[in-house]
Amino acid sequence: MKKIQVNGYQMAYTDAGEGTPIVFVHGYPLNREMWQPQIEALSDSFRVLAVDLRGHGDSDPVPGPYSVDLLADDIRAFLDALRIDQPVVLCGLSMGGYIAFAFYRKYLDRLRGLILTATRAAADTVEGKAAREASMRTAREKGVIPIVEGMLPKLVSPSTTAKKPELVKQVGKITLNTSLEGVLGDLAALRERPDSTPTLEQIRIPVLILHGEDDQIIPIQEAQAMQSIILSAEFHSVPNAGHLPNLENPAVFNHTVREFVTKLEAGSRQPTA
Ligand code: MLT
Repeated sequence: MKKIQVNGYQMAYTDAGEGTPIVFVHGYPLNREMWQPQIEALSDSFRVLAVDLRGHGDSDPVPGPYSVDLLADDIRAFLDALRIDQPVVLCGLSMGGYIAFAFYRKYLDRLRGLILTATRAAADTVEGKAAREASMRTAREKGVIPIVEGMLPKLVSPSTTAKKPELVKQVGKITLNTSLEGVLGDLAALRERPDSTPTLEQIRIPVLILHGEDDQIIPIQEAQAMQSIILSAEFHSVPNAGHLPNLENPAVFNHTVREFVTKLEAGSRQPTA
């Protein structure tokens, strides 16, 4: 495991392989361990970077509140700290996708492409915000365990729950490595995040949208709607997967990411007229 000083705290990260950098940003309440199948499969062709956001995994448990802008600033500071000035492909899952939208708005010059997975553009509804408040109260009173245990059944598809108990156990273990500061910080960021729908029609870089067919948290129709607005987006549904398509169906996920990034690379090599 590697660590680097970023915006006043130690951020843990994985850095494997060489080539076009792909930066993987996890969802709530997860950490970079969720990208293990991507690190293993894709680092033969690309530079695969996966971060633990503040409060998550092996990064410092920095107290919140967080915001998607602040977390996007952390990614930018991470790239600066590693002296990566070549534009990257940013892959965000769920909350990682909300952060990717913020990153796009702030640091477009650092982006080569976006991979949006298991995410949505809309902000929280009034009911959604109230549910975040309720989770914050629970976390303050009872700690992280009831929060992450409550989320686990929704994170994967019913078929993954039935057929892959080892994977469910592994996801449970990953979520438990989230600090109270991380959970509370994230919940504030999730509750306050802006509506990114207006950003969709402004996006002018290649986008890949990957969504589990059986996502229990963000219905696939929301991802299809995003694709219809973005000028340059490919959409792929991932069979036999819920909210964690990269873990539930890594073969399809990795193949699609590999093709997307390889196409981007070929595009960059085209002579301009
Ligand atoms: C996530 O996976 O990051 C969360 O489900 C996002 C959310 O609750 O909106």
